[in-house]
Amino acid sequence: MSYVLGMDVSTTATKALLVDETGKVVGVGSVEYPYDTPRPLWSEQDPRYWWDAAVGAIRKALDQTGVSADEVAAIGLTGQMHGSVLLDDAGEVVRPAILWNDQRTEEECDEIRRRIGKERLIQITGNDALTGFTAPKLLWVQRHEPENWERVRHILLPKDYVRYRLTGEFAIDVADGSGTILFDLARRTWSDEILDALGLDRSLFPDTHEGPDVTGALSAAAAEATGLRAGTPVVAGGGDQSANAVGVGAIRPGIVALSLGTSGVVFAATEEPFTQAEGRLHAFCHAVPDRWHLMGVMLSAAGSLRWLRDAVAPDKSFDELVAGAAEVEPGAEGLMFLPYLSGERTPHPDPHARGAFVGLTVRHDLRHMTRAVLEGVAYGLRDSLQLMMETGLARPHEIRASGGGTRSQLWCQILADVLGTQIATIPDAEGAAYGAALLAAVGAGWFPTADEACAATVTVQPVAEPGDAASHYDSHHPIYQELYPALRFYGRRLD
Ligand code: XUL
Repeated sequence: MSYVLGMDVSTTATKALLVDETGKVVGVGSVEYPYDTPRPLWSEQDPRYWWDAAVGAIRKALDQTGVSADEVAAIGLTGQMHGSVLLDDAGEVVRPAILWNDQRTEEECDEIRRRIGKERLIQITGNDALTGFTAPKLLWVQRHEPENWERVRHILLPKDYVRYRLTGEFAIDVADGSGTILFDLARRTWSDEILDALGLDRSLFPDTHEGPDVTGALSAAAAEATGLRAGTPVVAGGGDQSANAVGVGAIRPGIVALSLGTSGVVFAATEEPFTQAEGRLHAFCHAVPDRWHLMGVMLSAAGSLRWLRDAVAPDKSFDELVAGAAEVEPGAEGLMFLPYLSGERTPHPDPHARGAFVGLTVRHDLRHMTRAVLEGVAYGLRDSLQLMMETGLARPHEIRASGGGTRSQLWCQILADVLGTQIATIPDAEGAAYGAALLAAVGAGWFPTADEACAATVTVQPVAEPGDAASHYDSHHPIYQELYPALRFYGRRLD
């Protein structure tokens, strides 16, 4: 038997997923790590955590399954998008990576718009300059840490640092690459015009590849560290959202992928490099050749539930917390939660947006707060879905959900009620890591294309239909939408 390995370098853990030739997941190894918030709304991680965790996760997956190094046909990589990994001449990390949910770069975003023009920026890259993207982070380091910037010779994204440690190669896939907003979206590679305007030298950036392409082979040193075979091919893969979309089969227009991880994402594939005048949805390359996608991203989805647990009930498991929420009626007796705990991107591109509970009374306890968090996240995803539907690209009867949050049946039911559509999941698929494994399977020659890989392996299982609560959520979604504009100005004043 042959296997492929899908690796997901996420914000909370690195996961290694072994998948056999029939598409069955045979083993998972995972190693967690923390992320640092050295100042409010900053978010950083040391890339070396990812490498150590990748080694640990691969070893766990191999040990657990008894799969031998010779049986692993290829490795596919995915991971958190947009993080800035800065390496020096010797390939050493210059400073911690600034992550996708960091909000420090508002001034640099203004500067990018000033230098390029917002309209031109959207025309070329598909996107406005938002604080989470990579380009403003580079300008921030140039400006605030010139001594660090002086030393930078290579710029990578998180999973590509792991690729570098696995193969010694500097390479990136086009899906993650386009999330830097240094890409020409239609041409699917670095934009000379944008790089020139920002004074960034092309030699700092790796070569670009389509998702299933082989970018290099495992080095002898990495083979020794991981227990894999030197020479194992490593494919380009994709940023976590596009890889997740491959994992749930959202690779053609019509199917919406919804991911409920630390971030919450609504994602739809497109056949063209679609851009909107205002750039309210992100427009990036898909991990599948000749396809693109649109997505709305909320920064704290399952991250909001994790925050509630850590801040208020650290002794409770997620299951216990969510069981309490199930005892409370839809609407949490008039309590609403705004999930903007790390600022927000879609539909409010605002680094100063703040989270809030609105409507607290003495009757409310942890159960109501938990229910309000689950509902607030669902309302936020409805905002993104609404923007997506306005483009005419989403067919809301096909929503395929993945991510840690979908392990909760209650949360899936709330999503079905709030979004007014069936929610389906992919049993055992493990989202992004599974998509990376499928891209590796294409790279290994098991399937000629990602379409064929998805058709052969992705099975969809409906888990929730809109029920009686849907009308309550319909009538209350407009109230939720009024709260952000009403509270917006306090965010900045409280900073
Ligand atoms: C997507 C984004 C997040 C991270 C999470 O634009 O920023 O979904 O990729 O890992």
